[in-house]
Amino acid sequence: MRTLLVLYLCAYAAWASDDLEYDDYGSVSVPQNHCQLGARGHRPVLKGRETYHHNRRVPAPIKDSSNKYHSRPATGREEKPTRPEAVEQLDLGGCTHASQEMGLLCPNGCELKTTLLKQERNVRMTISQLKPEVRDLSRSSNTIHDRVSSMSQSLRERQRVTDENSRVVTQYTNQVEEQHAYIKETVDTIFPSNIRVLQGVLDNIRSKIEKLEKAIAAQTVDCREPCTTKCPIPVVSGKECEDVYRRGGKDSQMYLIQPDQSTLPFKVFCDQTGHSGGWLLIQSRLDGSVDFGRRWDDYRRGFGNIAFRTQKGYCETPGEYWLGVDRISQLTKMGPTEVLIEMQDWTGDKVHAKYRHFTVQSEQTNYVLAVEGYSGNAGNCFLDGSLELFGENRTMTIHNGMMFSTYDRDNDNWTPGDPSKQCSKEDGGGWWYNRCHSANPNGRYYIGGSYTKQMAKHGTDDGVVWMNWKGSWYSLKAISMKIKPYFISR
Ligand SMILES: *[C@@H]1O[C@H](CO)[C@@H](O)[C@H](O)[C@H]1NC(C)=O
Repeated sequence: MRTLLVLYLCAYAAWASDDLEYDDYGSVSVPQNHCQLGARGHRPVLKGRETYHHNRRVPAPIKDSSNKYHSRPATGREEKPTRPEAVEQLDLGGCTHASQEMGLLCPNGCELKTTLLKQERNVRMTISQLKPEVRDLSRSSNTIHDRVSSMSQSLRERQRVTDENSRVVTQYTNQVEEQHAYIKETVDTIFPSNIRVLQGVLDNIRSKIEKLEKAIAAQTVDCREPCTTKCPIPVVSGKECEDVYRRGGKDSQMYLIQPDQSTLPFKVFCDQTGHSGGWLLIQSRLDGSVDFGRRWDDYRRGFGNIAFRTQKGYCETPGEYWLGVDRISQLTKMGPTEVLIEMQDWTGDKVHAKYRHFTVQSEQTNYVLAVEGYSGNAGNCFLDGSLELFGENRTMTIHNGMMFSTYDRDNDNWTPGDPSKQCSKEDGGGWWYNRCHSANPNGRYYIGGSYTKQMAKHGTDDGVVWMNWKGSWYSLKAISMKIKPYFISR
């Protein structure tokens, strides 16, 4: 019986959460309860009704060592680093992607504008709901007023009768007078005061709308002009961040890079300090400021904020961004490339996973992921899948060899061709989903870490998840992916 009740509660909670908007989850608090069934990530097969084939031909990452890179000279013989000069270059930002360069370099109010517009719609609805109520109230008070008038009249009538036969009617008249007085008071004070209260509510809402309208107008003006930021682009450039490092760009900041002459240069954030530098940031989550629930085109071209300027004058604070699978593929196909995935939980603990070889195949293959050579302490999600799961269930969560999927482009390994079975639709971001994941770095950002099935839009573990470290129901505070040409160090 108890189990039944719990089941019912789970079902109810799941049903209730269906009504939530994507951005409502922050305000919903659902207590931890028995619905948590531990590991998720996979989509178990329905016995006898379907089968799972892990039938992808898994390509090997690029490893050939005819690589132009040799290890850097020993630090002792290293020349004194020449501090690169910076040139001031105004950068276009704004509501839209103003140029072929990706991302905005400064935040503006456009997100706020959307929120405000949404709120305005709600308030307008409330008002239109209130209006008929006010109308009804005034109408009913009018009716009562009429009734009172007619009573007054009959009272006068009775008084006339009373004159003739006062003794008999006195008592009755008193009663009528009492009632009359009571009703009159009601009509004169309580009804108008109710209406006043409603009027007050309306006025209040009206003034709120005015404020919202002003804010929207201001935002509209702000958003018309692309916001500009003086993000100095360092003179030192290169094919990627290791190249930039070797040319003297040894500060971690935004750089303009050009992997080959046939493509336009683009901006990236280079981490030149951690793990001996030369790391090019391809993915970054750190505060939930950028929406990662995006379509194929965005994931292909990239989105988000490369870097922000701090007081020193360089754009040395990375933002949240996805470089774009097109560029990631281009960069990783230039030669053997390693990837470093660093992550942090909400208590400040940090772990990392590193793959010695990392290649993202071309668009023709839907950007198949190929990795090899794990090291680190976060757990090998890409090659092993989730260690909380077993057998087929675990195999379903391996990412190596998978194509890239977004909610509008289903290339995953969960019943291909069935639109009701798409990992990216349920798990929040674009990723190399299998059936479905053990790692979900582009998932939804949950502040605080722990989240529940009920908070998730589809009841799945759609957070920023790395299962082999924190399990399905913990969304990381920060995660980033950095790449660097692989070279055998001394
Ligand atoms: C796979 O997962 C399903 C449900 O999550 C479970 O019933 C089944 O026993 C699992 N299979 C294995 C081999 O662990």
